Amino acid sequence: MSKLGEVASWIGLLAALALAGPAWAQDVPTNQQLIEQQQQRRVEQPGNNAPVWREVRSGRSGSTLVPGNEMGVLILSSGQTWRAARVPLAFWGGLLIAAAIAALALFYLIRGMITVKEPPGGRLIRRFSAADRYAHWLLAMTWVVLAVTGLVISFGRDLLLPVIGYTLFSWLAILSKNVHNFAGPILIVAVPWMFVKYVRDNGIGVEDLKWFVHIFGYFRGREYPSARFNAGEKLVFWLLLVVFTTILVVTGLILNFSNFGQTRSTMQTANLIHMTTAYLAMAIAAVHIYLGTIGMAGAYRAMKEGYVTEAWAEHHHKRWYDDVKAGKSRQKFAASGEGTASASGATRTQTS
Ligand code: HEM
Repeated sequence: MSKLGEVASWIGLLAALALAGPAWAQDVPTNQQLIEQQQQRRVEQPGNNAPVWREVRSGRSGSTLVPGNEMGVLILSSGQTWRAARVPLAFWGGLLIAAAIAALALFYLIRGMITVKEPPGGRLIRRFSAADRYAHWLLAMTWVVLAVTGLVISFGRDLLLPVIGYTLFSWLAILSKNVHNFAGPILIVAVPWMFVKYVRDNGIGVEDLKWFVHIFGYFRGREYPSARFNAGEKLVFWLLLVVFTTILVVTGLILNFSNFGQTRSTMQTANLIHMTTAYLAMAIAAVHIYLGTIGMAGAYRAMKEGYVTEAWAEHHHKRWYDDVKAGKSRQKFAASGEGTASASGATRTQTS
């Protein structure tokens, strides 16, 4: 560019700035104007800091030497919204879990364990393969550890701290947080493994709707005939495992690995979704764990050792039992002598 051209472009730039100047000056007050406004406000409205806080809470990024996401923002208003939402969410979530456990305890007191009459000489059926059981227990153990540590993180400060004191609670809280953070990623393997092993027998059909219509019969000893898994178990599979646990894994990873550039507001949203899902999931899991342990004779042994008795299968999963009998199912009757340890256990628990 010639010397003349250079001078002309400088003049053009200065002229543009001179024209834009007054408009810009109207929009953004100068420092001098701000100081004067503040001085005047101090006289007219002493103690009114609203404009300063409005500016602070605007979320606008200022300048900072600290590198990182949102470091130039003094106060994030979304944090306040998050804090305000957390308290009622935790309260109602905690109440839901407590109500589920109380209802199950009451049900157990009234109904007791669901049992099946065992005629002597009944055969055994191999209900779960070793791989089926390993997949389930990897998921279940990880999940229960996460649930317990999650409850300490959520409610420990309100429920445990007043009882066990600061020193013990501090250790417990740090331990819970670290165990929670390290156990969570195990679900990245456990959920898909469980899905692959069980999806085949969790297809949904009209019979499942009918099973729900007859749900009261389930607790009165007259179950609506079901296939290998009944509609309640399919609900556990699709809602608890596939939907809820996947949401927990995704939101948990967003919270666990904060180094992928996600904003704090993204993490706050992830936290609220994580909490809500966890409380709903824990209430459903409580029912599942109840039926898988003290609620129903023979169920726990099925998942521990793999076998159920013929009477158990006929009573709880009639259509599956008919398929096993007709040789149409992948699960077969056990060979003689196979699984006898679980047979004695099953008859021991199924008494009525
Ligand atoms: C201590 C914890 C747990 C215990 C004692 C337990 C117990 C059991 C038992 C006994 C069965 C076999 C039921 C049958 O033979 O029909 C079973 C099946 C199953 N469990 Fe668990 N469970 C636990 C935790 C969990 C958790 C946390 C999940 C999911 C997040 C889960 C998902 C499943 C699924 C999907 C099935 C197979 C039912 C189907 O696919 O429809 N379990 N469980």
